[in-house]
Amino acid sequence: MIDQQTINQIFETADIVDVISDFVTLKKSGTNFKGLSPFSNEKTPSFMVSPAKGIYKDFSSGKGGNVVGFLMEHEKLSYPEALRYLAQKYNITFEEKELTAEEIQQKNERESLLAVTDFATKYFAGQLMGEEGKAIGLSYFRKRGFRDDTIQKFQLGYSPEERTAFSNEAGKNGYKKQYLVSTGLSIERENYLFDRFAGRVIFPIHAISGSVIGFGGRTLKSDKKIAKYLNSPESDIYHKSRVLYGLFQAKKAIVSKDQCYLVEGYTDVIAMHQAGIENVVSSSGTALTTDQIRLVKRFTENITILYDGDEAGIKASFRGIDMILEEGMNVKVVMLPAGEDPDSYAMAHSSTEFLEFIRSSEKDFISFKTEILLSDAQHDPFKRGQLITDIVKSVAVIPDGIMRSVYLKDCGLLLGVEEQVLYTEVNKIRQQKQEQNWRREQSSQRNQSAAQAPASPQQPLVPAFVENIYSEVEEREIIYFLLKFGNKILHLGGEENTRISVAEYIIREIQNDELEFNNLVYKQVFEDVKMLIESDKELSERHFIYHDNAGVRELAVDIFTSRYELSNVWKRKESYVELPGENLGYEVPKSLLSYKMMVVEKALGQLRADLDKAEKKNELEELNKLILRIQSLGNVKIALSKGLGGRTIIR
Ligand code: CTP
Ligand code: MN
Repeated sequence: MIDQQTINQIFETADIVDVISDFVTLKKSGTNFKGLSPFSNEKTPSFMVSPAKGIYKDFSSGKGGNVVGFLMEHEKLSYPEALRYLAQKYNITFEEKELTAEEIQQKNERESLLAVTDFATKYFAGQLMGEEGKAIGLSYFRKRGFRDDTIQKFQLGYSPEERTAFSNEAGKNGYKKQYLVSTGLSIERENYLFDRFAGRVIFPIHAISGSVIGFGGRTLKSDKKIAKYLNSPESDIYHKSRVLYGLFQAKKAIVSKDQCYLVEGYTDVIAMHQAGIENVVSSSGTALTTDQIRLVKRFTENITILYDGDEAGIKASFRGIDMILEEGMNVKVVMLPAGEDPDSYAMAHSSTEFLEFIRSSEKDFISFKTEILLSDAQHDPFKRGQLITDIVKSVAVIPDGIMRSVYLKDCGLLLGVEEQVLYTEVNKIRQQKQEQNWRREQSSQRNQSAAQAPASPQQPLVPAFVENIYSEVEEREIIYFLLKFGNKILHLGGEENTRISVAEYIIREIQNDELEFNNLVYKQVFEDVKMLIESDKELSERHFIYHDNAGVRELAVDIFTSRYELSNVWKRKESYVELPGENLGYEVPKSLLSYKMMVVEKALGQLRADLDKAEKKNELEELNKLILRIQSLGNVKIALSKGLGGRTIIR
């Protein structure tokens, strides 16, 4: 760990123009520097570096950040790696921060495990080139068409048949039994250790940083009773639900193609790489997890699932689709011809042919699901109904409202169902989920408040059943004021003749109504501002420009660079021509009111749709509940519109 003082020193010393010049040719342009974007293939320079602010902004890809952010983005370094890079460049020496005894032990433990896996990787790779390895392992890889450069790139290896060969060699080299066993490379018997992977070819599994953290071993025997693959067990360094095979080798290509292929197995990843398609990863036999999807999301929002065209492949892809959608990512699906997997296909075709096949057969998830399910539901009204419910459920998990409506449009066309009907269904599902969450929260709050004295100063204006309403533009506007003018003092006239900072005011208003930002980056900014204010710290540009969340850094750079403009919505609604910030005492409360109004309006829209349905179905109890809610929101709306200058602004 690097101590804060050193980090500050690194930031103070590092000259962003100097650092970036190692990768991009920059020319002076006014007070800034300009160059060709290293993140896209452009002809006119739109990459800008501002030495005064210490930031870069790439207008062609939208990326931007500080000097460390640039290294992380361009060189794919982690945060500490980027800091070390700079320390080295500027000859800044530092002591690693003192760790607690427990931290030291943990660190030593992890490092010992990594030392063992590193030794094993080299040992297996060496054995592959030995006499036995060549005859058995290498000839197997050759038969499968793996080239030497591929074998090296993936550090493939071979573990000899002799059952104690690796364990003995590791012991001779001083690696402790404890670590050989906890990495799973050796298995302990009463008075000796034997090798887990004996007689198998080895596929090392890399962390994003490139260290080997586990192994897969494939048997070369065709005996059905022997497991085809053995994998490392879970350990302090290997958590299989949080690892994607091939990500280390793929990450650069994933970023430059802004897309990631997801396949089933080790050999699929390797064969596609060899065919020149490098943006590919595998969950390696385990069912895809949310952690794995989030790993990909660090590099791209676009995933294409490439699965075998058999029943199992289709089932696996259905489950994966919903999980990917839920993370707010875009997902497409490619079914390979029956009997083929990406490995066999890549071996039998050129990369151009493979890419052409993918291009012509890839489907977005709506068309994919519809086609598969429709084929046996065509003439069966009951099955058709089920199919529609099924697809609607998938759409309902998508966090972004605009994405949802785009999909529903497609879906309506494909299924020949009115879009509005689908909308209502999706809203119903989302509403149910929100109510579930709400009830859960209520009961956990009840449990808490039994222990704590309630200390809420004011009744919230917006009732608690209004939750999770998505209003990107309004949220962003509030965050804009929070970041750009947070420290400024608001002069509120009238009853509230108090002096309060913009940030304090916004926090108070949002918390009082128990509202939450839907956009996670905005939410993070809000939480940070709150934390800074509560601990009496300064709200500095620096805090956000140097934030460890990339989304926050990007937003901050956007807001602090001049190209940011307030939303058009703002201008339209208010025909407001002054620059924002000139009359904060008016703009900030207005902005908050608009946000709340939007939340209320959207909630009302949903309630009315539900009311329609309840009426048709004649569900009296539901009807009563809905009417009460609509009335109570109606009152909120009146209160809000008074605040907005005595008129209802929206619609
Ligand atoms: N797998 C596993 N254990 C098994 C079988 C499979 O862990 N007993 C995992 C492996 O990661 C494998 C993936 O599931 O790569 C896909 O399995 P499969 O399609 O059977 O293997 P292939 O990768 O196609 O391997 P090969 O082509 O060598 O048969
Ligand atoms: Mn295969």
